[in-house]
Amino acid sequence: TLAYWNGSLLPLDEVSVSPLDRGFLFADGVYEVVAVYDGRIFELDAHLDRLARSLDAIRIAPGLDRAALAAVFERLAAEAPRPAATVYIQVTRGAPAQRSHAFPASAQASILAFASPLKRLGRDQQQAGFALVSAPDIRWLRCDIKSIALLPSVLAAQHAAEAGALETVMLRDGLVTECAASNVFVVKGGRVATPAADHRILDGINRRIAIRLAAEAGIPLEQRDVAEAELRAADEIWITSTTKELAPIVRLDGAAVGDGRPGPVWRRLRDAFDHLAG
Ligand code: PDD
Repeated sequence: TLAYWNGSLLPLDEVSVSPLDRGFLFADGVYEVVAVYDGRIFELDAHLDRLARSLDAIRIAPGLDRAALAAVFERLAAEAPRPAATVYIQVTRGAPAQRSHAFPASAQASILAFASPLKRLGRDQQQAGFALVSAPDIRWLRCDIKSIALLPSVLAAQHAAEAGALETVMLRDGLVTECAASNVFVVKGGRVATPAADHRILDGINRRIAIRLAAEAGIPLEQRDVAEAELRAADEIWITSTTKELAPIVRLDGAAVGDGRPGPVWRRLRDAFDHLAG
């Protein structure tokens, strides 16, 4: 696998990172994941915008401008596995000479990027739908930053894996926030609701696409607090992310969602999404 590492292109297994890199010691960095369909990057501009926002929020200067970052994505996408892949990029605060919590006076940001094959959720799997389990949201209050500090998400994802579920939906103060690595939508009586994009969630790129597709289809959608009770009483639930795209949920903590099959609102948006992603 080809990797980009601080200005060089080299095989991923030849990248060597300093043990003092602040990504390693402090999880002091941010990341992005884009989907690549047949060599074409999906929604690159939106991901570049969000990366810039995350970097800004934690005050890392990446040392590459937007065009150079775009070129890194494009270079790796060109050689990415087909038909579908992801490109991962992370920027950390670099490797100073000594470990100390506050920002080092000198140290250049470290940038690592590489492509991986993406196994898209197949049509048959989508028809059957997926299971979701719930857990308390134990994360910090800046979930809008795409931070590489992912331990709560790792634990939530493992909770799903052990339950045979696709994802874990997280609950905070009686409200739905999001999943370990995806956003959540609920449908009741033909109306869609999804948590508003504030500090409690990551504003997903596929989340925004789903919102736009709903608007284009004339489906009413609100961005607001979504109570746990609404989630449990929903006619339909679906989740969105770069890797899971737009995935229908038919079981929540073992109970059927609606009639236990992917619903009509999801179907319409999924068809529209497939036109975009190809
Ligand atoms: N995760 N919420 C969280 C906490 C996420 O980590 C992600 C993405 C999303 C969905 O965002 P998007 O639609 O832009 O992919 C929501 C990526 C895919 C990951 O960590 O691998």
